[in-house]
Amino acid sequence: MITFGCQMNKSDSERIDGMLNALGGEAVASSEGADIIVFVTCCVREAADERLYGQVASLKNSGALVAVGGCIGQRDAAELAAKMPHVGVVFGTHNIMSLPALIKEARETQAPVVEVISNADAAEAEHPALDPEAPLRREHAWHAWLPIMTGCNNFCSYCVVPYVRGRERSQPFEDVLKETERLIADGVKEITLLGQNVNSYGRDLYGHPRFAELLRAVGNSGIERLRFATSHPKDLLPETIAAFAEVPAIMPALHLPVQSGSDRVLAAMNRRYTAKRYLELIDSVRSAVLAAGKEPVAFSTDIIVGYPGETEEDFEQTLALAKAVGFAQAFTFMYSKREGTPAAAHDDDTPREVIQERFDRLVELVQQSAWDFNQQFLNQGLPVLFEGSSKRDAQMLAGRGPGNQTIHAPLPADKQASDFSGKLFPVHITEAKTWYLRGTLL
Ligand code: 5AD
Ligand code: SF4
Repeated sequence: MITFGCQMNKSDSERIDGMLNALGGEAVASSEGADIIVFVTCCVREAADERLYGQVASLKNSGALVAVGGCIGQRDAAELAAKMPHVGVVFGTHNIMSLPALIKEARETQAPVVEVISNADAAEAEHPALDPEAPLRREHAWHAWLPIMTGCNNFCSYCVVPYVRGRERSQPFEDVLKETERLIADGVKEITLLGQNVNSYGRDLYGHPRFAELLRAVGNSGIERLRFATSHPKDLLPETIAAFAEVPAIMPALHLPVQSGSDRVLAAMNRRYTAKRYLELIDSVRSAVLAAGKEPVAFSTDIIVGYPGETEEDFEQTLALAKAVGFAQAFTFMYSKREGTPAAAHDDDTPREVIQERFDRLVELVQQSAWDFNQQFLNQGLPVLFEGSSKRDAQMLAGRGPGNQTIHAPLPADKQASDFSGKLFPVHITEAKTWYLRGTLL
């Protein structure tokens, strides 16, 4: 399994892994010697696109059955089949559940099999996009991704997602609760609800969003920790902020992509909020969570630098906004032109060096704010959900705090790292760096 891109793709890969495993397959660490190589792909930016084509091309003589799915499968089905005859299966974003059957067919017929349901047909289909009963293999036994909706109706002018993932389709409320129960019974301690825009969860099924209600229902179901991604600022409702603050299991970490701090650029991006509105949302979330007595909120965001026509002044407004929020983390991207999106028609004439220089200034500011954010935890106790030992040091435990910070603590001499995996312990923080905290088990 080779997975590119977002958490939705990671979740799809866990489902594919589960289905193939149930049929006797076994995931291996390297594509060398594998019988079947499944790519779950991303085309949100050009770099991921190019990497995928490069990797698939290099498997020409591998002898393996190569299956390419996800967003590039959806977008380029015809091209993949025509240009890469060694690709045995192409599947789209709505066809995850048929992959085992497609692989079987390709093996039997020794001919390429392509199955891509169009977004229009997927929108008409009655069955839910994902089968809540399907087998699933999770990366960590104690963590589960739970897709509550797929697709996006927002059409931000730079973004290809609505074209490859189709319109918003929510999983029925009861199915999400059933899946939650199944996961808890299976030992899951932390659930991350997933959707391109979770705030509009339910609008397609019930005529109005039911995300706040869903947060309360899943959050009060007995799950230890609940997280969710991604929220569009224009759809973040007061009732959702209230649920976020009040339900104890919901962790105080909010990913709220802002994309830009310039109202002119935000309008061109079709984001439908202003910088002022964004800052008001941050304030109301911060104060609601503080009033509820939780840890301070770790705000994270996505920012695009160099959107067509972005001026130095626009960019400085982005810096000012990022500074005002004090993000605990920010995913920063240089604008990447995507064919078929409205932004691709605009002149993209800011020189590369100027964009690079802006990008570097933003990264520096975000590193400072991440460092500042972490300082407030020095000499404090934080509940940590441990993953296991740190990748670099077997004697060091690694886990996550409420704000999703990576937290390290030395492994006690008489214990194994596995004794801690998937369990919560309090840690006294003694060191606060930009990207991690360190402390001692209490
Ligand atoms: N160029 C650069 N970044 C993009 N993103 C989406 N489309 C593009 C693009 N064309 C970023 C946005 C989004 C994140 C997942 O990827 O910031 O929130
Ligand atoms: Fe893309 Fe905008 Fe939808 Fe996010 S909300 S997936 S950026 S179109």
